[in-house]
Amino acid sequence: MSWIGVCDAEQVQEDFPYSGKIEGKEIGIYLVDGEFYALEDVCPHAYALLSQGFVEDGKVECPLHEAVFDVKTGQCLHGPGGRNLNRYPVRVFENQIQITFIEETVA
Ligand code: FES
Repeated sequence: MSWIGVCDAEQVQEDFPYSGKIEGKEIGIYLVDGEFYALEDVCPHAYALLSQGFVEDGKVECPLHEAVFDVKTGQCLHGPGGRNLNRYPVRVFENQIQITFIEETVA
C-alpha cells in the first residue's frame, strides 16, 4: 500500500476541512472527534466540492443542493446525493496527513 502526502495535520479543522487535488482526484480531509477522514470531494449529484459545504456533528452538507453525507462512513443520509461517497484510508505520519487510493465504500 503506498501512502500519498496530502497536507499538514494543522491544515484540517473540525469545521474547515482541507480540500486538495491528489493525483487528479479532488479529495476532502475532515477532522471529526479527533480522527481524520478522507472522502471524495465532488458531490455525486452535480459538480460541487463538499468540503466547501457546512460541516457539523460529523456530517457535511453539499453547498449546492444540500445533500448530507456522514463524514465517517461516506453514507448519503438525505438529499439528492444519489449514492454514498468513496472513502480513503488515512494515516498521520510525522504530522502529515497521508491517504492511499484503496476505496472503501459503504454497502
Ligand atoms: S451538487 Fe451536491 S446535492 Fe447537488
